[in-house]
Amino acid sequence: MTLRMRRILKGVLVVLGCLVGLFLVLQLIPYGRTHSNPPSIAEPPWDSPRTRELAVRACYDCHSNHTQWPWYANVAPMSWAVQFDVETGRSVLNFSEWDRSYTRAPYSGRRTLDGNMPPYKYRMAHPEADLTPQETLELARGLDLTLGTPAER
Ligand code: HEC
Repeated sequence: MTLRMRRILKGVLVVLGCLVGLFLVLQLIPYGRTHSNPPSIAEPPWDSPRTRELAVRACYDCHSNHTQWPWYANVAPMSWAVQFDVETGRSVLNFSEWDRSYTRAPYSGRRTLDGNMPPYKYRMAHPEADLTPQETLELARGLDLTLGTPAER
């Protein structure tokens, strides 16, 4: 091995070592470890069991207290992204805490139909939430019937 190759190899190893060290330090940050699923208080008056079933598949991980925390929710920095999505999702719309009102709830059907919900990156990691066009139509219709539609459609 030439001296030049040795130097390059050493440089690569130092960089790798730093990355592994940084990764380990990230694991010490406590945010993202709670993985709480508070009790379910009340659900919306679903128009049909089918709507609920599709919502469970496509929406419940972020918009209910029945989150199925994936394995990577234990590994920073993915754990932070998951925690953030669930916290934000639940605060906007929580199908397990229907004793409150949610101003954005009537947008659910529209967001489902236009493909904004569930978010693209989530669908990539969760094939079961990647509804067929037929299922998407069904869910959007069911959400409209259950939650209403925005006034200025
Ligand atoms: C990966 C987590 C996740 C999933 C799954 C998910 N959402 Fe969301 N949703 C969020 C987050 C985070 C926000 C708040 C930020 C935003 O608006 O993008 C949000 C916002 C919303 C809003 C308010 C947005 C607006 O334009 O007013 C609605 C309505 C909504 N989601 C409906 C749904 C429905 C219906 C499903 C299932 C078909 C779903 N979401 C699936 C994370 C998620």
